[in-house]
Amino acid sequence: MMARTLNTNLISNKIPYEIYESSKQGAIAVAQMIATLIKEKQRVGENCVLGLATGSTPEPMYAELIRMHKEEGLSFKNVITFNLDEYYPMKPESSQSYHYFMEKQLFAHVDIKEENVHVPDGTIQENDIKEYGASYDKQIADAGGIDIQILGIGNNGHIGFNEPGASRYSGTRLITLDENTREANARNFSHLEEVPYRAITMGIGSILKSKKIMLLAWGDKKADAVQKSILEEATESVPASLLQAHNNCVFIIDTAASRLL
Ligand code: F6R
Repeated sequence: MMARTLNTNLISNKIPYEIYESSKQGAIAVAQMIATLIKEKQRVGENCVLGLATGSTPEPMYAELIRMHKEEGLSFKNVITFNLDEYYPMKPESSQSYHYFMEKQLFAHVDIKEENVHVPDGTIQENDIKEYGASYDKQIADAGGIDIQILGIGNNGHIGFNEPGASRYSGTRLITLDENTREANARNFSHLEEVPYRAITMGIGSILKSKKIMLLAWGDKKADAVQKSILEEATESVPASLLQAHNNCVFIIDTAASRLL
């Protein structure tokens, strides 16, 4: 199915955006752009470095990439991935971990090399996290930098787990989750009390180093954060608005998420 863009830029926006009829159409369009880059890089013998997100937003995009692998032979052998975040503390084998999520949603179903997959380690000793965060950012740089960074957006405008107030210069580090975020993510735990209070996340500075950034947002609940990020002044109290500083960033949204634009 070809995804169709309903609308693109208005004059007053500070970040370009594309509106799709449905989340499925938007997700397919993003998967096609990723597949095109993977294949272009294959032709010239290069790796394709992807920055990946978890959460419900990218699920249909991962489903489409798996379909392309199975039905169209799209290979992930030249793909290197870096995930944005992981709860802290969190064991990778836990069914609530983002390691587990990524295995289930993508990695187990495609031919990506195990050594090319990176998800922040939620088992690092707390004293070592500072150094670990710097080494995660260095690994990204050593891989050549992120070619396409995929982002979702929190209802409060967070990107990765950079909650309101995060510095635009931040690198990968330990953060405290907003209550709002813990509540939004409680659906994956049996009780709110079980949702970790902290997480390791790539920083806004780490994200802004990516060559291209695609932020995906579906549904009415994201409309307010999308509107503030695209139309209002950039501010650390709406982390996604800091993407205005990037020269190759686009929001891919559905009709419901575009309601306030
Ligand atoms: C997840 C992440 C978060 C989510 C955001 C939206 O790796 O970095 O920023 O993208 O919380 O979550 P969903 O997609 O579940 O609405």
